[in-house]
This record gives sequence, structure tokens and C-alpha cells, in this order.
Amino acid sequence: MSTFKAPKGTYDLLPPDSAKFLAVREAIAAPLRNSGYGYIETPGFENVELFARGVGESTDIVTKEMYVFETKGGDRLALRPETTAPVLRAVLEANLHKAGNLPVKVWYSGSQYRYERPQKGRYRHFSQVGAEAIGTEDPALDAELIILADQSYRALGLSDFRILLNSLGDQECRPVYRDALQDFLRGLDLDEETLRRAEINPLRVLDDKRPDVQKQLTGAPLLRDYLCDACKAYHEEVRELITAAGVVFEDDPKLVRGLDYYTRTTFEFVHDGLGSQSAVGGGGRYDGLSEMIGGPSLPSVGWALGIDRTVLALEAEGIELDIPSATSVFAVPLGEEARRILFAKVTELRKNGVAADFSYGGKGLKAAMKAANRSGARYALVLGERDLAEGVVQLKDMESGEQAAIGVNEIVAELESRLGRRIFG
Ligand code: HAM
Repeated sequence: MSTFKAPKGTYDLLPPDSAKFLAVREAIAAPLRNSGYGYIETPGFENVELFARGVGESTDIVTKEMYVFETKGGDRLALRPETTAPVLRAVLEANLHKAGNLPVKVWYSGSQYRYERPQKGRYRHFSQVGAEAIGTEDPALDAELIILADQSYRALGLSDFRILLNSLGDQECRPVYRDALQDFLRGLDLDEETLRRAEINPLRVLDDKRPDVQKQLTGAPLLRDYLCDACKAYHEEVRELITAAGVVFEDDPKLVRGLDYYTRTTFEFVHDGLGSQSAVGGGGRYDGLSEMIGGPSLPSVGWALGIDRTVLALEAEGIELDIPSATSVFAVPLGEEARRILFAKVTELRKNGVAADFSYGGKGLKAAMKAANRSGARYALVLGERDLAEGVVQLKDMESGEQAAIGVNEIVAELESRLGRRIFG
């Protein structure tokens, strides 16, 4: 071990487990690519103001959890705690919304940073795959995203998750509800900080997890009962579309999210095998965010799914992903000359698209075969002194144990045909 450890609240992704993370990312990305979402990548840090204005001055994310720093040039930046505001910033900056092709549909994958109290499933560095559909108000778009997330989780084999759905209303009906909720909260027995929160952001109080607070909230007014007709109709349409698609969801009139930009549709994917950090993904509509960061009106909707927690959910359900071995052929040379010949063959195999690896470090047969086994390769190529003299190499099928001598010059063709049959047959 070196003097250093991964910083608190972080962990390293290491092989072979890291393959699971890649597979999860791919399972989430594939349906998006298949549905018109283009890949977008933004920097890992942004002007701190983007998040203060976008995510919200009074949110935990902005007040407590951001990694903020000043550059040598005097810029105040923050490591991104989320990627919706950055994506919208990038789309506006590049004028993608003016290309006349709305919605702008993009997906991303990458690191997020939040200075949170670490525990299982809650890290200071974590990874999301996200999707944003920018510039269109259409319940079918909200439905599309919910259906795609559901599809990704199902494709991974997950079943022990629930979709919680709510509407947060719009600038017309939410203020009315906000007032009603504030009136209600002022009458409760709450501590100073919570009362202060009730004044700044009363909806967040609904999300207070403390049992004594939750008990007092039983009779709280619900936004559901305050939605204006337009919001009600919009929400009903989203519900009908996802129901028609066979997506099972629960109405959760108390669902609020930790970010302030949401309007109308909001949802969370929770997994019941994860304990307290149960949200594996979340999202919703953010019709006002563009204006909040200085852009034109661009009603939008999106979500982000947490890769770390999705992997934990797979483990909780005991799901082993079927990840094909990365290496198909493992070459074992015995002796100097064999080493040169086989190394050239491995290079040639790789050029031909065959995944091949090599026994390095002059290992003896036993250690080298162990390495071949560990690599998961279907075939081993063993080249010893006697084989060399005869111009052959031993091709061993690691599954059946069968071994056959083939000509050194036939290696590539033989393996291509054997593996080809496996892949395409
Ligand atoms: P969020 O709910 O803050 O939403 O994060 C989405 C997901 O990221 C969570 O459901 C969770 O799986 C994962 N996550 C969040 N914090 C942590 C953490 N500390 N450790 C591990 N995983 C975590 C957003 O970030 C929004 N930008 C989603 C969105 C996109 N809304 C509209 N478009």
C-alpha cells in the first residue's frame, strides 16, 4: 500500500468489477441512442453561479455540498454536482435550440461531485448517465424518458424498483400552493432552521425525513389539490401514456426533489433493496431553468440515473450480468524464440479484431496456464520447443480441454473461424 488512499467518500473502480459499471452505463445509454438522443460532454467544472442560479441558492446541494474553488485567474468554479444545468448552458451557448429542430435530445455519462456525508450508496464522487430533452412541452416527451429509464432497468434484470410520480405545478399554481403550505407550516412545532426553510423553500420541508416532523406533516396541503387545469391535464396525459406503455408507477403527492428547477412532472426511481439511499434515479420537467440562467423560454425534461446505486441494486437482487470475457485467446510462449513468434501472432490477431493477450515475464508453463485461465480466454496457444521444431502450436480449448496441433501459419485463420462460429453461429 502506498502512503495515499482514495479521498473520503470516494472509491476506485477496479477490474474485474469495473466491467459491471461499464455494462450498466451501456444498458442505460443504448435505449437513449436508439431514441434520438445524441451524446454530449461538458466540463467537469463550471462557473459556480450556474449552479447557484440553476439548482437553487437554498438547496443543500448549493449551500453545503459543492466543491467550490477559485482559479489562479480569479474565476469561481465548482466541480459539477449535477449535469442538467451544464447541459442546458452548453446547448444555449452553441445555439443548438435555434437550429430549428426541437427538442434537442442529448445524453451524457460522467462524474458528479457532492460533499455529502458518506455512507453506503452515498458518495462524494459518483457517476450518472443522464438524458435531457430540451425546448419542447409535450407530455409524450416526459413519458418517453420515464419509459426509457424503466426499459434500461428491466434490461438489466432489475425488478425490485418502483417509480414515484408527482407534478410540482407551474408558475401559475405553485405560488398559490406555496402560500397555503407556508401557512400550514407556520402553525407547526418546528425548530428554528426548519422554520427558516419553510420561509425560503417550504416544499423542501415535505422531504424532511425526521419522524417527528413527518408526523406533523400528515395533514399538510398537497400540491395535487392546487394544480391548475393546464397542469392537471398535462399530468393526466403523462400518466396515461406511461400506463399505456405498461410502465407501473405510484402517485406520490409528497415527492419533492433536492433541486429547485423542477416544474410539473417529477419522478424518482427507488430500489427497495438499498436501505436509506434508495433513489437509483430521478428527474422531471424544468420549464423555467433556461430563463433562470439567462436563456429564452425552453421547456425541458430529463433524468439522471446513478450508476453506483444501480450496481448496488443489481447486487441487492443477486443479479449477475452476463459479461462476456474480454479476452478470447491467450498466448503462452515457452522460450525466447517462441516468445518472438507468438508475440507477432498476438499482434496479428488483435489487428484482425480477435481479443488476445499474452503471457509476459517469461513464466513457466504452469504459471502461464493459470494466467490463461484467469483471463477467461476461450483458447490458449502454447508454443514449446518441440512445437517450434515442427512448425506447429498447441491450440487448447479451455472449455472442453481439447488440444490440437495447428500450423503456426494457420493460427489467425483457425481462430477467426472458430471464434467467428461462436459469435455469429
Ligand atoms: P439527483 O436526484 O440529484 O438528480 O441525482 C440523480 C441520481 O444520482 C440519484 O437518484 C442517485 O442515484 C444518484 N446520486 C445522487 N447523489 C449521489 C451520491 N452522493 N452518491 C451516489 N449516487 C448519487 C439530478 O442530478 C438531476 N440533474 C437529474 C435530472 C436530469 N433532472 C432533470 N434532468
